[in-house]
This record gives sequence, C-alpha cells and structure tokens, in this order.
Amino acid sequence: MTIRRVGVVGCGLMGSGIAQVSAQAGFPTVVREVAAAPLERGLASIRKFLQGGVDKGKVTAAEMEKTLANLSGTTDLVALSGCDLVIEAVSEDLALKRELFAALDGILAPEAIVASNTSSLSITELSTFTKRPGRFLGLHFFNPVPLMKLVEVVRTLRTDPGVAEQAKQWCEAIGKTAVTVPDSTGFVVNRLLVPYLLDAIRVFEQGLASRDDIDNAMKLGCGYPMGPLLLGDYVGLDTTYAIAQIMFDEFREPRFAPPPLLRRMVLAGRHGRKSGRGFYDWSTQPPS
Ligand code: 3HC
Repeated sequence: MTIRRVGVVGCGLMGSGIAQVSAQAGFPTVVREVAAAPLERGLASIRKFLQGGVDKGKVTAAEMEKTLANLSGTTDLVALSGCDLVIEAVSEDLALKRELFAALDGILAPEAIVASNTSSLSITELSTFTKRPGRFLGLHFFNPVPLMKLVEVVRTLRTDPGVAEQAKQWCEAIGKTAVTVPDSTGFVVNRLLVPYLLDAIRVFEQGLASRDDIDNAMKLGCGYPMGPLLLGDYVGLDTTYAIAQIMFDEFREPRFAPPPLLRRMVLAGRHGRKSGRGFYDWSTQPPS
C-alpha cells in the first residue's frame, strides 16, 4: 500500500502542525477536531503560520494556496475513511485514545497505518486498543512542527518492519529526518530533554540562579536556541508535568520526578505560552 491520503485526528498545537506539513508536502490531508470552534482555531493557526512564511519569503503565495487546497477540516471521524495513514494527536488521555482507536478500526481499510503522536504514553499499550497492532506505531513530532526537523518513528514488538519503513519514508517525503526507536517511555528525545527541563526548574526553585541567568547560561554557554525555562513555557508546563509524571511512574528514578514548583505552577494555571503566563509573561508579546 502506498501512502497517498493522510488523516490527522486533533487540530491543536501538534495536530495542526502535522496536518500542515503533510498538506505542504502535497498529500491530500484531512484533519478532524471534535467541534467547529477548535477546528477553526487550528486551521486559523495553520493559515497564520503559512502567511508568516510568505511574509518572511520562506513560502510562496502559490505554495500557501496549494497547501490550503490539500487540506480539509472536519468534525466527522468518518471523513477519514479513505486515508492510508492516520496520525492521532489528541490529548494524552488513555480512555480517549482507546475510544478513538476502536472507532478508527471500524472506519479505516484494514491495510491503513495508524500512528500516535504521543510523547510519553506506551505505544505498545495504545496498540492493544486496535485490531491492527502490526500496522500501528508512534510518530513523535516536535514543536513547532513545521520548523523542527525530527520525527521519532516508534516501533513496538508487534509493528511490522515494513510498516515502520513505510512510515519512515513518509516522514522523509514531508521533509523530516526520521530516527527509528523501540517503544520505551519518552523515546530518545524526552528521555534526555525532560530531566534537563526539570533540573532547570529545580535550579530556579532552589534559588541558585535567576530565571534569566538560567536561560542565558544554557543559551549562550551551550548554544541552545532557547533556555530551558523558556522552552518549558513553550512546550507547556502542564504538558511537561504530565510527561514527567508518566516517566516517573515508569522508571521510578528521582530525575523524572516533577519538582514541587512545577506542580504548583500547573495548579495555579500557569501553563506557559498557551495560558499567557508561565516562567514568562506571554500576555503581551513573546519573550525574546
Ligand atoms: N514559515 C516558514 N519559516 C519560518 C516561519 C514560518 N512561518 N517562521 C519562522 N521561520 C523560519 C525562519 O525564517 C528561520 O529560518 P532560517 O533559520 O533559515 O533563518 C527559522 O524558521 C527560525 O525562525 P525565527 O528566526 O523566527 O525564530 P528563532 O530563531 O527564534 O527560532 C525556534 C524559533 C525554531 C522555535 C527555536 O527557538 C528553537 O528551535 N527552539 C527550541 C524548540 C524545541 O526545542 N522544540 C522541541 C520541544 S520538545 C517537543 O516538542 C517534544 C514534546 O513531546 C514535548
């Protein structure tokens, strides 16, 4: 089977980015949200990003038009029926994903490939929710999806090697570099990145350095594009907290334990960029 038509479930931060890069690479892509309002928000963010690309001279107006012509939004899961590859990018909620994968089994052709963009849930566990474990895998994208070059292709013990290879080739066709990794919580990137983000919060919490000094230290001392506290805001502190909890539950190692300050910030609604406030104030303009 050749991947021709792509479906994306969820049009939030990650789903909208995945749908965009798929459509931009020429794949007819249908993205599904649960209701009209979040769907329109997601599609508007795609239009805004593409327009930003046109303004910066990175994308031509014709390319933008072609991308939008390849993209359709829906609130009806059945609209994904003709897709050869469907990527799930809904909230990190097992019950929700279980229901979704069961519904997709009834809609998609038996040979369709189903992937999850989960950052920390077990791909193997998710594969038990489908009747197609051989055609199920993880495709983990990074935020912001149109700019970050990597996709982790995550194989379970039951993923057909041919399916993993096909998914990898699709990632390359959309302009990404794919690394294939076995299913292990956090895969490679979050296994390394999450303890680093948590340690930066601990350094701040213990008063060892100020927010700006921590971020400048890592930006200027290590050449990272962003400091860790800014990156935490960017990824979402609620997301970082949820991933840390899942990783701590899995490995029981203190380095994955969410620091108390992170928990309190999440409880206080300081989720970072998405809520307007995290370590930085995002309510006016993005911190530099
Ligand atoms: N369309 C096309 N290109 C665009 C664009 C647009 N709308 N907006 C920006 N670009 C291009 C720019 O022209 C520039 O290209 P150039 O390098 O050729 O000049 C490039 O993208 C960078 O854009 P900017 O100069 O505007 O922005 P910055 O240099 O400040 O970079 C950033 C922004 C790419 C977000 C950078 O700060 C970065 O890489 N940060 C780290 C992000 C990161 O680590 N993400 C991973 C998070 S972890 C994750 O997602 C996993 C999850 O499971 C938690």
